[in-house]
Amino acid sequence: MVEKISLKSLEEREELLRKAGYNLFLIPAEAVFIDLLTDSGTGAMSDEQWSALMKGDESYANARSWFKFYEAVKEITGMEYVLPTHQGRAAENILFSEISRPGVIIPSNNHFDTTRANIEYFGGEAVDLVIEEGKDPKKIHPFKGNIDLNKLEDLLKKNSPNIPLCMCTITNNTGGGQPVSLENIRSASQLCHKYGVKFFLDACRFAENAYFIKKREKGYEKKEIAEIVKEMFSYADGATMSAKKDGLANIGGFLALRDEKTYQQLGNALILKEGFLTYGGLSGRDLEALAVGFKEVLDENYLETRVGQIEYFGEMLKENGVPILEPTGGHAVYLDALEAFSHIKREEFPAQSLTVALYKEGGIRGVEIGSLMFGKKDPDGNFVPSPMELVRLAVPRRVYTESHLRYVAEVAGSIIKQREKHRGFKIVYEPPFLRHFTVRLMAL
Ligand code: F0G
Repeated sequence: MVEKISLKSLEEREELLRKAGYNLFLIPAEAVFIDLLTDSGTGAMSDEQWSALMKGDESYANARSWFKFYEAVKEITGMEYVLPTHQGRAAENILFSEISRPGVIIPSNNHFDTTRANIEYFGGEAVDLVIEEGKDPKKIHPFKGNIDLNKLEDLLKKNSPNIPLCMCTITNNTGGGQPVSLENIRSASQLCHKYGVKFFLDACRFAENAYFIKKREKGYEKKEIAEIVKEMFSYADGATMSAKKDGLANIGGFLALRDEKTYQQLGNALILKEGFLTYGGLSGRDLEALAVGFKEVLDENYLETRVGQIEYFGEMLKENGVPILEPTGGHAVYLDALEAFSHIKREEFPAQSLTVALYKEGGIRGVEIGSLMFGKKDPDGNFVPSPMELVRLAVPRRVYTESHLRYVAEVAGSIIKQREKHRGFKIVYEPPFLRHFTVRLMAL
């Protein structure tokens, strides 16, 4: 699909920002020139996927399209029990509505924001245990998404009766789209099992993670992506997935399980919230496109181009003097706003200021992953910043070319050269959960 894009004038962009309360989620997509808000559901489907759409079987129960989807998910995860959902957070909601409650702790390398919100909404506590290297934007480590196994064991030793499961996010989106090694997945799973705790994958970007394992982990250089994927899932008792990423489609998700009893229990919640067991909020044609996407994403040539494009984007940003989180991850480049906008105080949201600057100066939309998204107040009302102040520039799959990304790198470079003219922000409205989606800000 080819889409027209256009750049609004500077005055129009400034007015749109004011109207949106400086929240980029509230800007009309039509007014965005290069949209790097997310890689979720924003990819272009292939010819094979478009033709599969025409074969959608829209029967309510046990449609032909469901069996194709089911076989594709089973092939990837090796799990017998699959609940289809309309997107990832619906799978999380169904899972945590049954197991999260006050007193329950759910560890992870880093929970994604919707995962954390679903756990907390039902009363549980979401704990992030990523390795120290994963919190330092400048530290080079091949698997910055790894879980800190010592911290995990400490938590399991003290609290295992209150931990129904541990999640592991592949790749670690919140920490920079960074991969988790197979060695770490295997060890975390073994630790959990030693303490009678289940091990789940948040598998949105499983294929990108597998590609990094092939390129960076000893012993996997000659393995097929599909084999690596199989081994990754072999250590998990279950998985949630937003198929809007490595499903290469615009909507979809699932919850996969090994155990029939949990499947039956969660299946009732699925029927109540999403739809019958064999469509879960998706149309037959969506299931068809996903079944094809799950196969296409395992193509190593595709993954090489995908991950290579992100790496190249990172190089161009660096050449333009823009500080980034290194090494680059699988789906996005993360700008380091703590360094780039060091003149802005943490409580005035430097990463949001850089996000706003990108739109104002170039019509580019990214997303803040810093204190606006994760900052908190302690019991005494003191501001507690997020560990990093990042701006994520997520690249949709199979959409933008190198020249689109060069434009972004050049705009970002010119912003850095005149950083002093950009100021911080103050919150004027915030909701109780997931505030970054609807927050409104005032320019200081
Ligand atoms: N887990 C991870 C690691 C994610 O990145 C996302 C979504 C979800 C779960 C939830 O899936 O959106 O289908 O409900 N991430 C998107 C993003 C929104 O922009 O990173 P969903």
